[in-house]
Amino acid sequence: KYTQSVQDGPLRERIAVEGKNQLLSVDQFTRESVEDLFRVADMMQPIARRQKVSRVLEGAVLGNLFFEASTRTRVSFGSAFCRLGGSVCDTTGFTFSSMAKGESIYDTSRVMSGYVDAMVIRHPDQGSVAEFARATNIPVVNGGDGPGEHPSQALLDLYTILTEFSRLGKLLDGAHIAMVGDLKYGRTVHSLIKLMALYKNVKFSLVSPKGLEMPSYIIEQASRNGNVIEQKTSLAEGLSGADVIYATRVQKERFANEENEGYTPDFQINRAIIDAYCSPETIVMHPLPRDSRPGANDLSVDLNHDPRLAIFRQTDNGIPIRMAIFAVLLGVEGLVQHSLRDVTWQHPSHVG
Ligand code: CP
Repeated sequence: KYTQSVQDGPLRERIAVEGKNQLLSVDQFTRESVEDLFRVADMMQPIARRQKVSRVLEGAVLGNLFFEASTRTRVSFGSAFCRLGGSVCDTTGFTFSSMAKGESIYDTSRVMSGYVDAMVIRHPDQGSVAEFARATNIPVVNGGDGPGEHPSQALLDLYTILTEFSRLGKLLDGAHIAMVGDLKYGRTVHSLIKLMALYKNVKFSLVSPKGLEMPSYIIEQASRNGNVIEQKTSLAEGLSGADVIYATRVQKERFANEENEGYTPDFQINRAIIDAYCSPETIVMHPLPRDSRPGANDLSVDLNHDPRLAIFRQTDNGIPIRMAIFAVLLGVEGLVQHSLRDVTWQHPSHVG
């Protein structure tokens, strides 16, 4: 059960940015505060699993402003807000926003603040969501700012890893994580490595094609707590003994002058690779979407029925994590437990 620590103060105050209730970067978290957020997410599980309903956000309206393509982040933030009793207003792409008529981030944010009670924003420019946040006092969540950060994805990824490790009897302190693929433009890995670096003695193997390496400023930031970060250029070097393999898609849409045309098959995570280098207890993750077009090589469908593949357990965890983020930022996490009611409707298992 979630009990707020009186000594530490409300979680939203501990993660606040300049006194504002916002989620812009994983840099806002300590190990203690991230684990407090996960206790709130645990409390949300009966709602996420459709066993209970809650109306703690009744009357609140979320503005979902997505200026880049999204399926998971946009829909799961919207679903999380609705499952807590709130409502959602969406705008998708620049074409259907007045930004297409030259409206600034400042004006857009100020206007939206009068209409909604919280905003989730995805935008192609790094730092742009922080610019939205500076123009308003309502909670703002970074749903992905170009190649910058994707904090809610990293939170659900870490929550998934800790849940899987708990099932396997493993600890994250001292574990070996291999991150594979486009580590230059992949904002999910930028956030995840910094968040996981809150733990101790973690070994990170960063396996990327030449030219798509993790930026050095992130490696420097994650080099703490006795963690070891090694950069590798082949799966054979990086995957051996890994507890978690985190694959990523090549973000060609962000390429500037890169020569790289994507992965060679040498970087694909598939059953043969996993069987060759990993144990039956290795977890295979990916933030999704995986690229299913011909020639794409990030994560093979031949692992779809392998229990080590955790990608859909990740996506499911997006709901309780995003409910927890809203509950904390809007200050209702202490009301959730007493608000729970039984569902009055039947639903099939959503797991196919
Ligand atoms: N993982 C993720 O951000 O997915 P979407 O782009 O579909 O939101």
